[in-house]
Amino acid sequence: KIKLRVLVVSNRLPLSPVRGGPDSWSFKKSAGGLVSALRGIKDVEAMWIAWAGLNVPDSLGQSTLKDALAEQGCVPIFLDEELVKLYYAGFCNNIIWPLFHYLVLPQNDQLMVAHSFGSQFEAYKRVNQMFSDAVSKYYREGDVVWCHDYHLMLLPKFLKEANSKMAVGWFLHIPFPSVDIYRTVPFGPEILRSILAADLIGFHTYDHMTHFLCACNDILGLERTPEGVQDKGRLTRVAVFPIGIESDRFKQTLELPSVKEHINKLIQRFGGRKVMLGVDRLDMIKGIPQKILAFETFLQDNPSWIDRVVLVQIAVPTRTDVPEYQKLTSKVHEIVGRINGRFGTITAVPIHHLDRSVDFNELCALYAVADVALVTSLRDGMNLVSYEFVACQDSKKGVLILSEFTGAAESLEAGALLVNPWNTTQVASSIKKALIMPTDEREKMHMCNYAYVTTHTSQKWAETFLRALTDTAMKAQSII
Ligand code: UDP
Ligand code: G6P
Repeated sequence: KIKLRVLVVSNRLPLSPVRGGPDSWSFKKSAGGLVSALRGIKDVEAMWIAWAGLNVPDSLGQSTLKDALAEQGCVPIFLDEELVKLYYAGFCNNIIWPLFHYLVLPQNDQLMVAHSFGSQFEAYKRVNQMFSDAVSKYYREGDVVWCHDYHLMLLPKFLKEANSKMAVGWFLHIPFPSVDIYRTVPFGPEILRSILAADLIGFHTYDHMTHFLCACNDILGLERTPEGVQDKGRLTRVAVFPIGIESDRFKQTLELPSVKEHINKLIQRFGGRKVMLGVDRLDMIKGIPQKILAFETFLQDNPSWIDRVVLVQIAVPTRTDVPEYQKLTSKVHEIVGRINGRFGTITAVPIHHLDRSVDFNELCALYAVADVALVTSLRDGMNLVSYEFVACQDSKKGVLILSEFTGAAESLEAGALLVNPWNTTQVASSIKKALIMPTDEREKMHMCNYAYVTTHTSQKWAETFLRALTDTAMKAQSII
């Protein structure tokens, strides 16, 4: 049987290159949910095309990196510093990312954005065209092309212009905002039309999909059908494909002797204190200040817990060139310092804040020893951290406190304590509830979550999307 060949196209490569010398390269796993989920693509021949992730101005560097990545099935696209500034730091992460997550920029920043919007959108267009050229170069008849995320919203149109027979899917990993918000995106109609050039469009949740369909209807006047969007006889299929994780990989990792040893060490280190865990990229959508302030309220209202609980917050550095992210880092440090100063003792502090990524084995060990996971995103496409915690909790059966504004809140509703992260009092009382929850109640909630997470895996997600894409593309071809 011939394997389906899939060209996966995203902004971020699964591996982040680190330059050791003029022609030597090593790699680190890239952070974030998109990369974690796409590891789940199996049984197909995948080629991954994405931005190299760093500036490589010289041809020796570019050719050696290209060779090193080819061995891993990856193709890098090289962007110069100016383009990255305008396209990635600017349009993608200073405009689209906050807007799609319902975060409005402060007044001053809004004016700056308005000033530079035109040049940022031009850069965005150029980069999407460069991605399209790269895909065309590697495309062979029979391949399917799967584009990912908000960085590449113009790509479906460019690809179809290059080759109308190409089977093109596009998947959004972040929320699609309600139409009132979407309307404020300048060039919003052009972006919608470009996405609609795809054969199949996928979202994590029903809400995100509905917002998209409403935008097509309200802004472009296009008709919505049960299958998707209809434009002059051409149908673009639109559907929901909730993402998952590779749950087996987590379970297997917890069986490794080195990980078991690490878990025991952690248990000793925490000395009988209950462990609350947060794992987030240091991003404003994750509600990290809100989480820490709620923890402070909890300690203030329940002083007997001060030396009996610790909050471990892993804050993975991300988009460090964008000023909003720099401001967030200082803000979080300031709050953590204040609270540790207020409640700490000579030998212990209530918050362990780490500004770095952790490797996979260490992450699994942390998930396994935690009593409570605290996810307080202000908005989040899905939030895989909540699933990963559940997958590692089969012996402990700890409690998940989960923001109602995550995609995951739809699937884990029955097994989590849902909170509004803006409501500090509610989060603080949920922390208390989680810490004192009776075992049978904890077990019941965990079983609900565990059943979901272990059956709705990333592999199934990828298979379902790719099957739908091949079917849709075949139907479209037979009509032509
Ligand atoms: N993660 C990571 N490095 C770390 C800690 C976590 O890459 O040091 C992973 C984590 O395991 C998860 C992903 O980052 O798979 C975060 O995905 P999520 O959907 O929760 O949020 P995103 O970062 O995509 O917004
Ligand atoms: C989110 C986005 C991904 C992105 C990831 C990490 O998960 O949906 O597209 O890769 O964050 O962000 P970064 O900007 O470092 O790629």
